[in-house]
Amino acid sequence: MSARLDAPQKVTGLAKYALDNNFPGMVYGYVVLSTIAHGEIEAMDVTAAKSAPGVIGVYTPFDPLELRPTTSPMMGELWLPLQDRDVQFYGQPIGMVVAETFEQARDAAGLIEVSYQVKPALTSFEDGLAAAEDAPESRGNPPSIEVLAPDVESIEDALAASPVVVEATYRTAMQNHAAMEPHSAVAVWDGGEFTIYSGNQGSHLQSAEMSSVLGVDPAAVHAVNPYVGGAFGGKAGTSVPGLLAAAAARALDRPVKCALTREQVFTATATRPATVQKVALGADRNGTLIALRHDSWSTTSISRSFVEPTSHGTSREWYATQNLAISQKMVPLNIPAGTFMRAPGEAPGSFALESAIDELAVALDLDPIELRQRNSSVAPPGNDLQWSSKHLDECYSIGAQRFGWANRSPRGHVDGDWLVGVGTATAMFPALRFPATVEITLNADETAVVSTSGSDPGTGLLTVLSTIGAESLDIPAGRITPQLGDSRYAPGGMSGGSTATASAGTAIMLAATAVLDELVALAAEPGAPFESQVVTYADGLVHGDHGTMPFGELLRAVGRESLSAKGSSAPGEELTKHSFSSFGAQFCEVRVHRLTREVRVSRLLGVFDGGRVINEMQARSQLSGGMIWGVSAALHEGLEVEPDGRFANADFASYLVPVNADIPEVDVQFVQYPDTLHNAVGARGLGEIGVVGVAAAIANAVFNATGIRVRHIPITIEDLLVE
Ligand code: MOS
Repeated sequence: MSARLDAPQKVTGLAKYALDNNFPGMVYGYVVLSTIAHGEIEAMDVTAAKSAPGVIGVYTPFDPLELRPTTSPMMGELWLPLQDRDVQFYGQPIGMVVAETFEQARDAAGLIEVSYQVKPALTSFEDGLAAAEDAPESRGNPPSIEVLAPDVESIEDALAASPVVVEATYRTAMQNHAAMEPHSAVAVWDGGEFTIYSGNQGSHLQSAEMSSVLGVDPAAVHAVNPYVGGAFGGKAGTSVPGLLAAAAARALDRPVKCALTREQVFTATATRPATVQKVALGADRNGTLIALRHDSWSTTSISRSFVEPTSHGTSREWYATQNLAISQKMVPLNIPAGTFMRAPGEAPGSFALESAIDELAVALDLDPIELRQRNSSVAPPGNDLQWSSKHLDECYSIGAQRFGWANRSPRGHVDGDWLVGVGTATAMFPALRFPATVEITLNADETAVVSTSGSDPGTGLLTVLSTIGAESLDIPAGRITPQLGDSRYAPGGMSGGSTATASAGTAIMLAATAVLDELVALAAEPGAPFESQVVTYADGLVHGDHGTMPFGELLRAVGRESLSAKGSSAPGEELTKHSFSSFGAQFCEVRVHRLTREVRVSRLLGVFDGGRVINEMQARSQLSGGMIWGVSAALHEGLEVEPDGRFANADFASYLVPVNADIPEVDVQFVQYPDTLHNAVGARGLGEIGVVGVAAAIANAVFNATGIRVRHIPITIEDLLVE
């Protein structure tokens, strides 16, 4: 297992992120945001800004930059800034100033006078819920799903016939990705060739988007971005600075650098929607589920639809039940757009479902692990395709042992001034693949290059390319150069959906087979060292009837500097045979202060079944990072929308994320059953599942400690005050 290959560059500051690119003549863009939540821009007085020191260009809806309507295969229709005068949310990009320095651009932006025709804004989720109930079903809500036992008329009948029923409403807050690297770009035009340096989750996807937005030949667009300072779904599409810097660089024929400030990131990108989720569970007295109903509502912007699929991401698949009914509705508001964020659906959905399961365990006076195991699904309800490989019970038994679950008391225990409780929850995240192509080049100096245009936004994909490349070529990893983050490489997958290892890994195996086939064919060609012999390959060596030769020596002997081949993989026939998911069991212990009511997480353990683990150090770091995000979701994070649509806490002073003192040691364990039914590498996704279930485990532990059931996150001190 190798340490992260790009770690030295990152910790020494050598890694070149988008904004670290500088060019002669480069100028700076500063984005201007709206200060109302809904209305129309009547006028923008840019006179003072245009004559401010250093200003080169001022762009507004009255003097826009050219951006063409574009639908991206991954992100749907892109929202393009400055193309009309409509304002749909507070903090919407409505202009950009370009100047010789960043400070000049920012100062000039402050001189722009905007007048609006203000319209009433719908900013409260509660008001939006009422409005959405009356609205026609035209927003593209996903279809409701109902699976009923043959003799059952409706989910309500199934619930009514259940001896034990729990029913509650859960709420989760809106969140921002809060990646360390704010969204930013450097754009350069050079004689019709366009290069963009901007954080992304797949550089070929970014270059395709840019070529369409700019209306230029795809071959003339080059996206280069080897390092990404966190993405989490928030860099899956090209950001506003990327779009504006590109168009301004063309208009001005100067390189343009543009970055959002931290505060701007909160509105000029997109959020994880807030949710309201109503869950009802009906069971018999032994704890066998009879009925599960899960109805969800999630916020979305007025103009752009995005669903946070909480019901569909959890209750659709997690438990065996004879009767299932799930629905999902969007609630349009005058707020920034929603988008994918780490475990979209499963993260907030698991808070509701796994809290409800805990409530059912309490109602039944049953151990919550026992309850979960009794209802573990062998296939998603109503679906004949069984899970390819599911070892969730083993995750629970290992976790319970390691955590000391047997010592748990149903009412927690007291340690001095602290009320101590433990909680658990299941984590699942679907195992997916995206199409990916990888190129392998064997070099005459006995090294090899494994390259693909995907991105490593901190997930460790670069190191995975090296590891799987080495085992596929049967040579030490030290002789492999992995390459990522350049749209000129073979079109890799997207670093999203926890898919990259399975997708790129499979393509590497195919590329290796292809290049080694070519190598042995080359070795046996007329005039080659193994002419007309039966040639095989192992351990970096070409074997003939008599003797062996390292592959580089063979290439030299036939006068080649290198030999390349590509391999492509995509989801296929396996989808007709099995269902695929990763699984995990989350455990936590919390301490709630008797008087101050503050919650401290004192122990965290996650045991995961993600198939084969390629690099345990990296996988552990992905999962512990996710679990920390779960603590954050449970106790810290949440965007607060003021009535005027402004986020009250759009900065790192008031949008709380955990710091070291908030997080105990995070224990991550694996059960390893390679899932070769899913892909040849045997690895399922491990990126997103870490966050799933943690918030519920914490809320369940808080209940265990205090007897107070908090049905929303983040949980605050106020929620735990007692008379
Ligand atoms: Mo994924 S939401 O792109 O981590």
